[in-house]
This record gives sequence, structure tokens and C-alpha cells, in this order.
Amino acid sequence: MEESPPATSDLAAEVAAIEWYHTMELAPGVTTRGWLDTRPVAPTVPFPPSLDGKRCLDVATFNGFWAFEMERRGAAEVVAIDVLDPLRWDWPVGSDQETIRIIGSRLAGGRGFEIARRALGSSVERLERSVYDLDPDDLGHFDVVYLGSLLVHLRDPVAALERIRSVCRDMLIVVDGIDLLLTLLLPWTPVARLDGKDRPWWWYSNAAGLGRLLEAGGFDVVEGPRRMFMPPGPGQPRARPSLRLLRSRQGREAILMALKGDPHAMAVARPRSGLQP
Ligand SMILES: C[S@@+](CC[C@H](N)C(=O)[O-])C[C@H]1O[C@@H](n2cnc3c(N)ncnc32)[C@H](O)[C@@H]1O
Repeated sequence: MEESPPATSDLAAEVAAIEWYHTMELAPGVTTRGWLDTRPVAPTVPFPPSLDGKRCLDVATFNGFWAFEMERRGAAEVVAIDVLDPLRWDWPVGSDQETIRIIGSRLAGGRGFEIARRALGSSVERLERSVYDLDPDDLGHFDVVYLGSLLVHLRDPVAALERIRSVCRDMLIVVDGIDLLLTLLLPWTPVARLDGKDRPWWWYSNAAGLGRLLEAGGFDVVEGPRRMFMPPGPGQPRARPSLRLLRSRQGREAILMALKGDPHAMAVARPRSGLQP
């Protein structure tokens, strides 16, 4: 039986009690203070004109924004997967326990998704699965797969894309982090900058590199990758531009984030047919 949405005051208290990644209006006057605000991006994502009757998968759902968006667009069924234990993310060897605790705390064991799902009266089913474990014998096939801001967090993005291909029947929409400078300097050459220090941030491809990753994972790119910015949300402190910040890469990235957002690229891909296995 579906749980009924809580009273607005109870919902507001639940929402205020945790940190949020996505900014979502869950009831009139109750909007989550997300780290990012993906709402203005949603209308620009090249979903098919209608998701009516489609079976959709949201990979790495976090608070569920993209899963709820596909449901809102008429999907017949939406499954969302996530890894709720931050210790199971791809941490570089020797990562500090306190860093793991701080970065992992925003997920709050997946509580935000549950609050949002109930408030929205959603039927999205969230399952605890790693992208590396996607298997058609387990979850079946999906017409449309949405993959957002995950590849940069993976040690092995090609293996992840191969697993996504195994469950993707028709269309993969990818919106993932990129290195903006490498994209501007090398528009046609696929390259990536390796982070891999202390945090689960790994390969920052340029836009061409994102396209190449998709091909290496068994997809044909049919649209993009095109550059865009993922805007910061109300829950993210904004850096104020200063000479001191301009001197370091991290400082310059913080200024860009505050002014424009996080550099990303968007692409649509289709599983290449006739591949073994
Ligand atoms: C930056 S958030 C992306 C949120 C959302 N997909 C979006 O585009 O707005 C990263 C998410 O990846 C999840 N994650 C980390 N490792 C994962 C893995 N191996 N398989 C699936 N999800 C993973 C985290 O739990 C978190 O929810």
C-alpha cells in the first residue's frame, strides 16, 4: 500500500534535518536546499518527446531528481539504483576516514530519496546496486537509461558503461563532469585528467573523451557531447572571486562553480548492435 504524504509542517522538518544534493520542490513552500540545482537543466536534456510506456533506469540516483523527472514525463516504470554505503564507492587507497564520513554524510543513507519519494507520491523503485553489477538477468532491460554525474566518480568508467550497455535496449542519456580547459584546448582529441587523490573523483575527460568513453563501452554516440554547466544550488556556499582564489586550480574551479556551475557535457548514445558478448 502507498504511504500517504506527510503534513507540510512535518515534511518541512524532515527536509530541514538532512543535507540535500538535489533541489526539489516537494510540496508548496517546501524546497530542498540542494548542493546543485538541476531544475533549469531538466528541460534541456534530450529525453524522447514522450516516455509513455517506457521502462527507465536512473543510475546513481542520490535524492532521485532524474528518476522523478522520468516518471513525471510519463515513464511506465522507473527503477533507480544507488550505492547507499559510501564505503563501497571507489575511494583511492588510503583515503582518510574523516573525508569519507564528511563526503558520505550528504547521502544520509539514502534518506533524502525516501522523503522525496513519499512527498511526491512517486512509484519509483530504488534498489541498492552498484553500476558495476548491472545485469539483465537481475533487472531486465530498460528502454531509456539516465546516467548523471557518476563516471567522474568511478575508477573504471568503461567497465561501468559496458554493464549499462548490457541492460540498455534503446537509449542512454549521459550528463557527466568534464575538464573544461582540456575541452577548450583539445576539442577533437579524447583525453582525461586523473584526480584519484583522497576522494572518489577519478577521470575528468574532455568532451571528446566522454564521447570516446561511450564508444569504448559499446555505444554509438548519436548526439553531443555538448558542453553545459550544472548550476549550484542553495545548499552550496558560493566562493567570492579573489586574487588568492585565482592562484590555485581549486580556487579557479570554485569561482567557476559559483558563477556558472560545474562543467559537464551531455550526450545521447545507443547500444551498438552485433557486439560480443
Ligand atoms: C554526484 S552524485 C550523482 C547524482 C545524480 N545521478 C545526478 O546526476 O544528479 C553521485 C552518486 O553516485 C552514487 N554512486 C557512487 N558509486 C556508485 C556505483 N558504483 N554505482 C552506482 N552508484 C554509485 C552515489 O551514491 C551518489 O548517489
